[in-house]
Amino acid sequence: MDATDTSISTGYPDFTKDDLVSQDDPYPQFHHWFKQAVECDAIPIPNSMALATCTASAIPSVRMVLMTEMGPNGLVFCTDQYSRKGRELEENPNASVVFYWKPLDRQIRVEGKIRKLSDEESTRYFKTESRPLQVLVASVERQSVVIENKTVLKQEYEKTQQKYADESVPIPKPPNWMGYVIEPSCFEFLQAHTNCLQDRIVFVRQSDSTWTVQRLTP
Ligand SMILES: Cc1cc2nc3c(=O)[nH]c(=O)nc-3n(C[C@H](O)[C@H](O)[C@H](O)COP(=O)(O)O)c2cc1C
Repeated sequence: MDATDTSISTGYPDFTKDDLVSQDDPYPQFHHWFKQAVECDAIPIPNSMALATCTASAIPSVRMVLMTEMGPNGLVFCTDQYSRKGRELEENPNASVVFYWKPLDRQIRVEGKIRKLSDEESTRYFKTESRPLQVLVASVERQSVVIENKTVLKQEYEKTQQKYADESVPIPKPPNWMGYVIEPSCFEFLQAHTNCLQDRIVFVRQSDSTWTVQRLTP
């Protein structure tokens, strides 16, 4: 290498505010990166995200969930409203999610308040789920409760499978399965580089439709 050549390969080009789809609104940037993650064959579940919730007394917990949709009001996911996360969200609506797409060396963090969707809206999302997932949800009375063994689970699953063997019969949404939307107050887009000079661009909501955008240190 030429001694005067100080360039270091970073894997990806620098990501600056000028590269944002919009500097006024984080949603177009989210959609842009999400589309690239969907189109990347090496990312099997691009809509999987770690969801962090917190009890009223500030004890955190985290688990993976699937983003069902990114709508105009935020990120939608579905779960059992009486699960651990459901109960935590009932007492503390603040939540945070993170997507990590290693093949693109990208992370998106979103923070905001949760709003539970109506039964009608939740039913609409339930209908879009795969049949095996609908069977599972209909066969598990409560998520996150202790059970004796796996046989109990299998028996309930098979019973529900037989009940809905005719696939033309729709499976009704159980009352405990609900949709939630995270209404974002903050988005952080991180592009990692092999030289560790990570680009972190953060949008913070100022009002319903205005956002500030800034760069953070890695
Ligand atoms: C890739 C992946 C996606 C998941 N998606 C969901 C989901 O969309 N909804 C859900 O309730 N659980 C989902 N789970 C299971 C959760 O991670 C978790 O085990 C479950 O919701 C119970 O969490 P809780 O006890 O903290 O409420 C998923 C797990 C994995 C590994």
